[in-house]
Amino acid sequence: MEQVMESETVVRAKSFGPGRFQTLEQFIIAQQHRFPHATGAFSRLLRDLSVAAKIVNRDIRRAGLLDVFGDTGEVNIQGEQQQKLDLAAHNEFVRALQRGGECCLIGSEEDEHGIILETHPESEGKYIVLFDPLDGSSNIDVNVSVGTIFSIYHLPEGIEPRDVSVEAALQPGVEQVGAGYVIYGSSTMLVYTTGDGVYGFTLEPSIGEFLLSHPRLQTPKQGKLYSINEGNYVWFEEGLKRYIKWMQRNADEPKRPFSTRYIGSFVADFHRNLLKGGIFIYPATAKNPSGKLRLMYEANPMAFIIEQAGGRASDGHTRILEKQPQALHERTGLFIGSEAMVLRAEAFLRDERPPDIL
Ligand code: AHG
Ligand code: MN
Ligand code: MN
Repeated sequence: MEQVMESETVVRAKSFGPGRFQTLEQFIIAQQHRFPHATGAFSRLLRDLSVAAKIVNRDIRRAGLLDVFGDTGEVNIQGEQQQKLDLAAHNEFVRALQRGGECCLIGSEEDEHGIILETHPESEGKYIVLFDPLDGSSNIDVNVSVGTIFSIYHLPEGIEPRDVSVEAALQPGVEQVGAGYVIYGSSTMLVYTTGDGVYGFTLEPSIGEFLLSHPRLQTPKQGKLYSINEGNYVWFEEGLKRYIKWMQRNADEPKRPFSTRYIGSFVADFHRNLLKGGIFIYPATAKNPSGKLRLMYEANPMAFIIEQAGGRASDGHTRILEKQPQALHERTGLFIGSEAMVLRAEAFLRDERPPDIL
């Protein structure tokens, strides 16, 4: 009897304990030890973001049961009007960062001007966090994966948290100190980088912990998937049209035709292509000359992640991470994914027809 109980304990320890999977918190602490001068502020910031992600995950998982589609006109238990889920997600991330005290400035898709936070006397408040609280939110109503995207910067040298203004956020993507996304899919995952590889954690719902499931993610150099809203074809530039036709040809080098996959949730399209290899394109077009996706909290964080995973991201001409932002909500064209695919797309846009285009 004693023996059975002992083996049960061992099995449980193997499934959830550090022997098998590291929790996000354990991983963050282990990483922090690599930097002798770290104060723990960045680790606390990541913890705050992961707590908000768990709350948003809980709300999304109940979206079909709770009346969270649209503005219901109902008043919730706190006396607030029930809000659309992307506003609710925005509020959860703001609250978590406010409580944590490590962030002095927030930029969110759901807030026009940027939010300056009061920092706590006992914390440093030296970080700026930009996020898309709910990406792909139009897919909520039809039970399709959605996500959250975040980007982290240091407050620039010489600015104190109490003097911060939204201009402090207008830094090129190369300055990011961390970036990540959460995908609320068939399982919930948090994927992030701090510039030393990409790590993916899967939420184990029964214990409420993110567990390291995808260490040091790398994306294939050449993929077979392309993801673009082809309904906009008439507005694409000629080089892009030719690139699409090239991907659709029956040929051997590289093996074509490629397959098309497009969910319409950037996080979900990106995540699939990261794991399987592919290119995601949301171009600038004749109709939308600046593209659709936002530079600061959609393109930049994903560009940081894809480069860390061995891939490439540009607007078709310029590396995303080197673009100097002019405004918090500015848009950009985006070509992101497997290196060989993005390089070839860029060549087509330059009108360089590689010899093997047939
Ligand atoms: P959001 O829900 O944050 O506004 O983002 C929607 C974005 C992105 O997730 C997706 O890739 C893109 O919109 C889809 O746009 P189209 O419907 O124009 O293809
Ligand atoms: Mn979005
Ligand atoms: Mn959004």
